[in-house]
Amino acid sequence: QKVLVLNGPNLNLLGKREPSIYGTETLEELHCRLQKKGEQLGLEVQCFQSNHEGELIDRIHWANEHVDVLVINAGAFTHYSYAIRDALAAVSVPSIEVHMSNVHSREAFRKTSVIAPVTQGQITGFGFISYELALVAAASLSKEKR
Ligand code: DQA
Repeated sequence: QKVLVLNGPNLNLLGKREPSIYGTETLEELHCRLQKKGEQLGLEVQCFQSNHEGELIDRIHWANEHVDVLVINAGAFTHYSYAIRDALAAVSVPSIEVHMSNVHSREAFRKTSVIAPVTQGQITGFGFISYELALVAAASLSKEKR
């Protein structure tokens, strides 16, 4: 079973970016951890990051043809990108929304997710563990499909 982990804008700066909120580990370290977790769960995990909305949309379309589950941290696009929401709604591959920080305990604008209604569910507030929890969910989703 294949999973694509898609990371949006500014997540390439993990480790340096607001470390009190996002921690000190890098995106590369996250990708390594997810590879390992994927192996434990019997998942083939691919990771991709982009700062560009259109590139994320292209990957969502690609995921529909090539993977069983999509895990997405759309960064700030979460809060206002109807284009990413429409892309998720347009495809049949199930998606899981992930955030490292607890978006509900921060600024008011972060409480709104325009993508949440078109995903299977949201995992928020557990740092890197949010992604690992999403892989656990992905493994059970892809089992259901079989
Ligand atoms: C984030 C939360 C968003 O509000 C923010 O814009 C991000 C990261 C998170 O993982 O906590 O870029 O998605």
